[in-house]
Amino acid sequence: MESNRGRIGGGRYSFHSGHRPRLSAIHGRRRGVTCGMPAMATVYVDFPATISENTGWSNHDRSGILKTPFRAKITALGTYVPPRQLTNSDLEKMVDTTSEWILTRTGIHTRHIVDRGVAASDLAVCAAQRAVAERGIPLAEIEAIVVGTVTPDMLYPSTACLVQHKMGIPRTWGYDLSAGCSGFIYALASGAAFVSAGMHKKVLVIGADVNSSMIDYTDRATCVLFGDGAGAVLLEPAENGEDYGIIDFIHDVDGSGGPYLCRPGGGSLHPAWLPETTPQMHFVHQDGQQVFKYAVRKMADISVEILKRNGLTGKDVDCFIPHQANLRIIKAAADRLNLPDDRVIVNIDEYGNTTAATIPLAMETARKQNRLRKGDMVLLAAVGAGYTSGATLLRWAY
Ligand code: UT7
Repeated sequence: MESNRGRIGGGRYSFHSGHRPRLSAIHGRRRGVTCGMPAMATVYVDFPATISENTGWSNHDRSGILKTPFRAKITALGTYVPPRQLTNSDLEKMVDTTSEWILTRTGIHTRHIVDRGVAASDLAVCAAQRAVAERGIPLAEIEAIVVGTVTPDMLYPSTACLVQHKMGIPRTWGYDLSAGCSGFIYALASGAAFVSAGMHKKVLVIGADVNSSMIDYTDRATCVLFGDGAGAVLLEPAENGEDYGIIDFIHDVDGSGGPYLCRPGGGSLHPAWLPETTPQMHFVHQDGQQVFKYAVRKMADISVEILKRNGLTGKDVDCFIPHQANLRIIKAAADRLNLPDDRVIVNIDEYGNTTAATIPLAMETARKQNRLRKGDMVLLAAVGAGYTSGATLLRWAY
């Protein structure tokens, strides 16, 4: 059998050689994480049975999607980014780049990154605690946890298990979901499906990534792009007759794009212990132009498609919350939808690309800027590694 060492997907990808980068410049000394939250009391109650009464919700007839008895709505949001920042000026001192190049080509000014020893589950817990505190529910009411992440603390146990343990949530279950930058919206659809099916009344959906753990800080093509962060929402069934919650979603994967954005090392194909698995293989590799071309078309296409099949146009969208990978991709999608700037949420300047965390972080930005209000028609859209892509339509519930 032909060896595929150093080649993935028909030779479109090759590992760039080089010595192991010094990460100490980025990852300072090991530290724990504090997210400014009071310790949460653990309340043990009987595990709630599945929903017994029908809420009577029916979807928009024109959609034909999610025609299930229960519509899932977001009832709380919490986010967290680590305090430490890595600015464009910092990066100018580390690689051959300029602040101006980064800003004009990506829209990023700074990003937050963790201290050494802080992992995805730590960020996830901080975000989830904020969401739970906002809703004011006992932990025992959380019936499931779905975590979108491509930087789990370790391959297993899953981040969901670690979150359960660290938060002290009794009698729940959960799992991680790997979908790159679409991780949050895929996790949202999974959680919504449990609620819609009547299986669960309260599901915690989290997007959390510590991208700095897999970035080569000598590679200017990737190190300027990514940051760390987490966001969490609580999903619950809409009340009887309510028009709030998740209306529709479209998801799409195209595995032919895999080689253009990947982290090849450490899995079963290139186990870390194999001598031919080089340190470089544990870093993110991206063919930026290929991903850009795909993302700029796909994010707009999938957004137009979900609006169209629900009988809507850009005019009906109050708040467009796109994945934050590149300001030019966001602007292209917004232009296709004819959306004015005041209905497009952008915070890439402050956080960079935090993969699964971008959309909840952007929800928080929208909220803080008073641009996300009860009853708003919200469009979420993402494209990422895989390729994965998706769009979600929802009416903001609180
Ligand atoms: O969220 C997951 C999905 N990911 C994305 O959506 C990312 C999609 N891709 C992008 O956002 C863009 O492709 C990048 C921001 C990554 C790159 O921007 P670009 O306009 O596509 O640049 P490029 O790759 O075509 O490179 C243009 C030039 C090259 O130099 P030459 O060959 O023209 O001399 C690069 O070597 O810019 C150079 N370059 C840089 N220069 C300064 C690449 N990175 C840098 C840098 N600083 N950091």
